[in-house]
Amino acid sequence: MNRSRSLSFFHLPLCFTWAILAVVFLMSEGCRPDPVVNKPNPPGTTALEIDIPPFFPPLDIPPDNPMTVEGVELGRLLFWEKGLSADSSMSCGSCHLPSFSFADPNPVSTGVTGAQGQRNAMALINMGWVQHLFWDGRAATLEEQILEPIPHPEEMNLPWSEATARLDADEGYAARFTMAFGSAEITPDEVAKAIAQFLRTMVSSNSKFDLWRRGQATFTDQEFMGYEIFNREGGDPEMVTGGQFGGDCFHCHGEAGLQFSDYLFHNNGLDSTFSADPGLAGFTGQALDSGRFRTPTLRNVTLTPPYMHDGRFSTLEEVIDHYNSGGHPSSTIDPFMKYNSGGLMLQPQQKEALLAFLMTLTDTVFANNPAFSDPH
Ligand code: HEC
Ligand code: HEC
Repeated sequence: MNRSRSLSFFHLPLCFTWAILAVVFLMSEGCRPDPVVNKPNPPGTTALEIDIPPFFPPLDIPPDNPMTVEGVELGRLLFWEKGLSADSSMSCGSCHLPSFSFADPNPVSTGVTGAQGQRNAMALINMGWVQHLFWDGRAATLEEQILEPIPHPEEMNLPWSEATARLDADEGYAARFTMAFGSAEITPDEVAKAIAQFLRTMVSSNSKFDLWRRGQATFTDQEFMGYEIFNREGGDPEMVTGGQFGGDCFHCHGEAGLQFSDYLFHNNGLDSTFSADPGLAGFTGQALDSGRFRTPTLRNVTLTPPYMHDGRFSTLEEVIDHYNSGGHPSSTIDPFMKYNSGGLMLQPQQKEALLAFLMTLTDTVFANNPAFSDPH
């Protein structure tokens, strides 16, 4: 059957075959991740190219915030600037710590006033590819997200008017803003743009998984077994159609895009009621969004405990046990949490293999990269 189909392909008129080849060629050209070169740079700035790692999808850079050497340098200074908090004690880097892949090792963060937030500060990694920022997706872009923490009363607690006045009064910053954006007037928008440029340079692609994908490393049998469990359908094939005794992880933390997140919203069965934190529903006001949170990346997950939006699990073993138990049934539990009665039934050896695979996603070169450290 298949054979006769492939034979008939070669009997197509030659010109038609060439047309197909031309289309395939054009498509492959279109898919090739070219380095991003930005066009409209402010006068006098130096365009910065970001090398997109092999197999990564293209990087979307907002046309009104092209990457420049001057912008990134300024963004790094601002990310680490304690003067952007009310009592000058806290910078972005106080909650996003490099050795934890720029996550907070505390379950929830404490702001300058001592007030505690409700949520765990997630890792900052491959930020150019993240979509729907925050656990509830309330910011559409990095630029929009960055406007929040500086004036937020539970975070840096400094009104924007004061933040820009402090920067204005600092000659070094005034000169750098002029170099990066071509005007001496410092606006919240420019602060956000500069930090966003810096965050977009935070690219990680040196985990063992990346090396393996590029043919530069080999997985142990255990790591490969974990990779397969991660990418297989859960369930006993005798009980469920399509069951493969896998972990179902790929449905939401898929390898496509290489960030191990679909950047969509799911209820992964942590709770049966949502009074503590409604998740996406708090932003959309839709009851159907209750308990749904944006899937976090699993890159560098070994460095970012505790886990989940409220940091409720302190180890990856606990996380795996959560999924293996199937999670708590509720009205909005995700259809991919298929075994919320009975569980995935992964055996101890399989759970260990899954953990071994998650460990291959660690990139300590990224966490220790001097280009991202405190420049002050
Ligand atoms: C007091 C601690 C704290 C400070 C200071 C702080 N953050 Fe955060 N950050 C958090 C928390 C907590 C979250 C998650 C909040 C949520 O989802 O509701 C977060 C989320 C983020 C995200 C979203 C990441 C994603 O994947 O969606 C980015 C980006 C970010 N912060 C950047 C910054 C920048 C830039 C600054 C400085 C201007 C900063 N943060 C200052 C605690 C902090
Ligand atoms: C239905 C979608 C879905 C499936 C299936 C799924 N996850 Fe998740 N995962 C999520 C979401 C959403 C979160 C965040 C939930 C929250 O905090 O409320 C999450 C969080 C996590 C975290 C915590 C990361 C962090 O930074 O806090 C880990 C680790 C994790 N998942 C691993 C896995 C593994 C391993 C599997 C397979 C056994 C799996 N997930 C299956 C959607 C899913």
